[in-house]
Amino acid sequence: MKIKALLFSALTAFASLPAAAQPAPQLRADNIDAVIAAMTLEEKANLVVGDGMGGFSARPVIGSSSSIVPGAAGTTKAIPRLGIPSVVLSDGPAGLRINVDRPFDHNKYYATHFPIGTSLASSWNTALVEDVTKAMGQEVREYGVEVLLAPALCLQRNPLCGRNFEYYSEDPVLSGNIAAAYVNGIQSQGVGTSVKHFAFNNQETMRMGNDARVSQRAARELYLKNFQICIEKSHPWTIMSSYNRVNGVMTSESHDLLTTILRDEWGYKGLVMTDWFGGTDPVWRGGHTDRGANIWAGNDLIEPGMDKDVKEIVDAVKSGKLDVKYLNQCVRNVLDLVVRTKRFAGYHYSNHPDLEAHAQVTRQAAAEGTVLLKNNGTLPLTSVRNVALYGNASYSLIAGGTGSGNVNRAYTISLVEGLRNAGCHVDETLTNRYAAYLEEWTRKHGKLNANVLEVPKLPDELEAEVTSEEVSNNDVAIITLSRISGEGQDRTAENYNLSTQERELLHRVCAAYHQAGKKVVVVLNVGGVMETASWKDLPDAILLPWQCGQEIGNSIADLLMGKSTPSGKLPMTWPVSINDDPSTKNFPSDVKDESLDLSSMFKDASKMAQVKNVGYTNYEEGIYVGYRYYDTFKKEVSYPFGFGLSYTTFSFGKPYVKDQGKSISLSVTITNTGKRPGKEVAQVYVTAPKGKEDKPAQELKAFAKTRTLQPGESQTLVMNIDKIDLASFYESKSAWVVDPGVYTFRVGSSSRDIKGNATLAVKKQIKKVHNVLKPQVKLTSLKLGQ
Ligand code: BGC
Repeated sequence: MKIKALLFSALTAFASLPAAAQPAPQLRADNIDAVIAAMTLEEKANLVVGDGMGGFSARPVIGSSSSIVPGAAGTTKAIPRLGIPSVVLSDGPAGLRINVDRPFDHNKYYATHFPIGTSLASSWNTALVEDVTKAMGQEVREYGVEVLLAPALCLQRNPLCGRNFEYYSEDPVLSGNIAAAYVNGIQSQGVGTSVKHFAFNNQETMRMGNDARVSQRAARELYLKNFQICIEKSHPWTIMSSYNRVNGVMTSESHDLLTTILRDEWGYKGLVMTDWFGGTDPVWRGGHTDRGANIWAGNDLIEPGMDKDVKEIVDAVKSGKLDVKYLNQCVRNVLDLVVRTKRFAGYHYSNHPDLEAHAQVTRQAAAEGTVLLKNNGTLPLTSVRNVALYGNASYSLIAGGTGSGNVNRAYTISLVEGLRNAGCHVDETLTNRYAAYLEEWTRKHGKLNANVLEVPKLPDELEAEVTSEEVSNNDVAIITLSRISGEGQDRTAENYNLSTQERELLHRVCAAYHQAGKKVVVVLNVGGVMETASWKDLPDAILLPWQCGQEIGNSIADLLMGKSTPSGKLPMTWPVSINDDPSTKNFPSDVKDESLDLSSMFKDASKMAQVKNVGYTNYEEGIYVGYRYYDTFKKEVSYPFGFGLSYTTFSFGKPYVKDQGKSISLSVTITNTGKRPGKEVAQVYVTAPKGKEDKPAQELKAFAKTRTLQPGESQTLVMNIDKIDLASFYESKSAWVVDPGVYTFRVGSSSRDIKGNATLAVKKQIKKVHNVLKPQVKLTSLKLGQ
């Protein structure tokens, strides 16, 4: 008893010592409460503000946490007094973005450039995506990075968004599932992801100030649905809020988005960080920042972080504007992240990921993401030896897009190298001509594949007639057309269309080779959609390998020569004209150059917020994005959503649906009916019965891909759909409503190639959610019958 009393008085005496005199608790996974209790207000504010961008420069500040991994986009702050180490955050999504060179270090720190997001999504293969990102995650871990700032999964609302190459699809089910696989692959390696940009970052023009005005229905059914699927299926360690506003509120200040929807409705438990310098309005909007509001909204970490951010948070608490309980929650979320990391566990990273093995991973993954758009029996080029290559891109392939999504890789294989590796002879006269031109171009414009948005124009001399020697010396002609795009800038209609030079080249090469009875193949080395309707009849085959990473030349050669078989399917519609897309009229492509002239805008900054598609963008197409529009309004397209050929053919058996109570299972048997091995995708589109709201003609609800099927071989694919996922969002009820009636499950190999269907009667179901993210202006959304 005496001992107990003594112990008690010793303990209470100890507890009443001033904070500084007490031994500070050292962070462990099980003492986060004690650590938070021991933190000063300043320490808390410092922990929720990153350590700046020192690591981003070529010569990071030695000794600061920003020098831990040079080239990393940011870090959290270490607090040694409490045993809290930094967390290193580095870009993706096509691979780990770090600096190759380090001060006083002769080693090279290359990372693998894997296929871009759009290419991964075109595989429609979640297992493949997970394999790719397992390899990527190993690089993240072995280079000492804790969180990869990826995947990027904003919906591809319009073909011209500059960052579409990082994004996955116009459809939320495809996009959400591919993203979940991506996250699961990376996180299986003991490192985290940051799912970005949450949300509505569907254009790059004025991305830091643009207000996405969107109906609650389109928000719920499309732009949030992909994030919801990804988050529920993969539990990403972190999420990155976007730069833009949604219905008038900055996403990083939106309690509705970051707390009510993300955490209360979806049950998200991880951390939310701002995009870099996000939460700061551009000058033309008044330059407003409110770090207290970020913290209150549930945005736990400000990146990259500046001293004034810390001060703002401290002041907000001291003035009573911000209740410290919100800050404590953010601190807890940062600490939860810290204790999950390998750095916290004392892991010794090697700085030697298996780059050789990963080169093979990216080389092979490219085949599954490559879409064969046309083939009249030309591909694969089994008996071809001599090849004539046209178009600058044949000699300088683009591995990926620009900006933070660009990966500092050791090399990019060109098509010449790829074809030579495959045993082909590439026409040397042509090669020399192009090489000389490209050398000159690079001298003038800088190295391609860095942050150069321009692709070399075809030189004038190449507009000359295709020579008879070229035609007689070669078995086949390949023309590569390319486009590059990236962060901070949207594409233009001009960029979407063929240039006059490209068109002339196509006509000349096709005429000359066809006259000699020889074939022409077009390779599209692009990051997004381009115009094809006006010229697709000219060549004999069109292959779309996208920008599939550093092994691109080898990957394309494997496909052309038949060493691998394309099995990609389009993750978005390819319209006939860019103006066919209902979102184009409210996309910055119609912003004239004068209105983007910042210097004149700044003269009357307040006006800028009123400029359509600069200050705000009305999502007037509502739920009719991509095939939801084209298929419902029966518009002609150049290539439909989900389209993609193979070197073999497939048949689909009759689909069967089974009521499983809460869910529905659907099965279909696919058989390889051709002469070569290949893979096929089953795409399940659901047509819902009529309800009070109009509905798209059909919506993708599930998909699955076969393994490689040998000729004659079959596989039965089984897919599950939760009944609640058949619901439409009813704004009047703030609820997901499954209208009762007969649902048709249409199984096909594209949205316009339905092979069979099955039906099932489903009962009414309602799931109420919060009435949040309301538009603040009257928004007219496209409706059927308009
Ligand atoms: C981009 C993010 C990126 C961040 C860090 C921002 O400008 O929008 O995608 O992760 O920079 O580099």
